[in-house]
Amino acid sequence: MAPRSKQPAQRAKKQASSFGAPEQAQRPKDNEKRIQTGIQGLDELIEGGLPRGGVTLLSGHCGTGKATFATQFIYYGAKEKNEPGVYITLEEEPEEVMGDVKRFGWDMEKLVKDKKISIIKPEITKFDTLKKTIEDEIDKIGAKRLVINPFGLIAAYFANVYDARKALASLRRQMQKLDCTALVVADIKEGEQTFSFTGYEEFVVTGVIVLDLAFKKESNSYVRTLFVRKMEKSNHSLKLVPLEIKPDGLVVYPDAEVF
Ligand SMILES: Nc1ncnc2c1ncn2[C@@H]1O[C@H](COP(=O)(O)OP(=O)(O)OP(=O)(O)O)[C@@H](O)[C@H]1O
Ligand SMILES: [Mg+2]
Repeated sequence: MAPRSKQPAQRAKKQASSFGAPEQAQRPKDNEKRIQTGIQGLDELIEGGLPRGGVTLLSGHCGTGKATFATQFIYYGAKEKNEPGVYITLEEEPEEVMGDVKRFGWDMEKLVKDKKISIIKPEITKFDTLKKTIEDEIDKIGAKRLVINPFGLIAAYFANVYDARKALASLRRQMQKLDCTALVVADIKEGEQTFSFTGYEEFVVTGVIVLDLAFKKESNSYVRTLFVRKMEKSNHSLKLVPLEIKPDGLVVYPDAEVF
């Protein structure tokens, strides 16, 4: 594991297990309208969780933890909250998605067998066909959570930005209708100033969470960071906070400093 600053590690001791809500999380007024992410320390930055029925973009450069975050969101919902989840993987095989997280102690296979999680890799053809597939999977297991990883492949499939943007807007309407909360992964190329493939996805979604790596000169190494760029209906934090990948998943340190 890369060298870490001492501060987050010390704070980690103060916190409960990686799963479960932070002990002293702020209780939002509309708590019932929030979906807890399962990322320890994150929910208190966003009034208790992701707005229910919304679509949040999870943006980041390569290796910033997007897939781990997305899987933790689905795993936590199914395991701890009785909120089944559908994981749409467009690049990796479902077996790889399940295999990658075994090291965190997450037994996805069991939850798939129990019909609490569905992991599928559909062909990208017409977006309407994909939407129908998503809806069918959500219906099958009564899903409350959805992940699409990565959305960039869908955006790239469209001939123009206009159609990609329209597709995401229609996904947002679909999620609201189905009362399902979506996390959509967006890969960002190094040097890009946007949060998504076309640079417009971020305007259409309910929220944008950015994962990144920040270079620390004193330790001559990078540290993981998280930043909530946008969260509708939320008085969210704008602080750049440290993030770590611990043996049992991602942890955010809301009170610690990156620099
Ligand atoms: N068990 C682990 N313990 C600590 N760090 C890990 C562990 N597994 C993966 N990582 C770190 O997480 C990084 C990759 O995480 P992940 O696949 O979630 O990122 P990503 O943003 O989806 O990457 P990409 O965009 O390249 O697909 C690895 O490069 C590694 O640094
Ligand atoms: Mg990935």
